[in-house]
Amino acid sequence: MSLIETAIKKIQASAAAQAQTAVATDTAPKRKSAAKFEPIDPTTIRQFKRVAADPEAMERNCILPQVTDQAALRGYKILRTRIGQRLAAGGWHSIAVTGTESGQGKTLTAINLAIALAQDPNTYVFLVDLDLQRAQIAAYFGMQIEKGLGDYLVGEAGISDIIYNTGVERLAVIPNSRALEHSSDFLSSPRMLELEEKLSAEKPRRIVIYDMPPILLSDDVLTFAPHVDGIVLVVTEGFTARSSLERSKELLAEMNLIGVVLNKSSERNDSPYY
Ligand SMILES: Nc1ncnc2c1ncn2[C@@H]1O[C@H](COP(=O)(O)OP(=O)(O)OP(=O)(O)O)[C@@H](O)[C@H]1O
Ligand SMILES: [Mg+2]
Repeated sequence: MSLIETAIKKIQASAAAQAQTAVATDTAPKRKSAAKFEPIDPTTIRQFKRVAADPEAMERNCILPQVTDQAALRGYKILRTRIGQRLAAGGWHSIAVTGTESGQGKTLTAINLAIALAQDPNTYVFLVDLDLQRAQIAAYFGMQIEKGLGDYLVGEAGISDIIYNTGVERLAVIPNSRALEHSSDFLSSPRMLELEEKLSAEKPRRIVIYDMPPILLSDDVLTFAPHVDGIVLVVTEGFTARSSLERSKELLAEMNLIGVVLNKSSERNDSPYY
């Protein structure tokens, strides 16, 4: 087992003890009871503003369903199933995707996890760009948007102006095109909390995935963590320093860590990688 895997396992163990939830990637949590399957009537689904995503941009940026690498596809399916099971077992609906540092694949993981979850015909998803200083989701999809989350947070747009259907079935996206300084202040603002409440109250219920900045570089994740059900941590093999993981451990102990993604792994078996 590599140093990084050992460190991840330690973090998972301490977070599990803290939150009293099973989180280790290779130990499935016990289900409280089998949830009754209730198919969703598609006519009850709210329609949002339509903005076409650019398939070429999606392909260039390795976004599902434009990914053809079979190993990557398999990795995302496993990730979707494990996260989906954990959400169902805990009765949870919202996730913040973060990492220890920049450039580890948080945004790509958040987007592909959202799309992979929405591939299930009974699962509806909101994907929110909550990296307020370095928004990327619109660019990854190749979407041209008029208004985004930043405009809403400064009071220049309403909620219905910033939720988009991109053409990916069952997925609605809240992108951003306006960088905001003092991002953690916006994350705890009444407008942000109102948006979070509205997304959580959506009927039929949607899984909400927030793409967030790194846990170590700002207090954004700490500020917003109380408003999500769980945290998914993305780390990169060969890039994430053990010391970063150790420093993250203390912060994560206060949060509900529901999964760790080992991204860009050189092991081509069952983890999400290319
Ligand atoms: N598994 C992967 N295989 C190959 N390239 C990847 C993988 N994951 C991410 N990348 C690439 O790495 C770069 C950074 O990815 P991404 O934007 O998702 O990282 P991030 O953690 O969100 O970065 P930031 O902290 O800047 O927001 C992108 O060019 C992305 O396409
Ligand atoms: Mg990012």
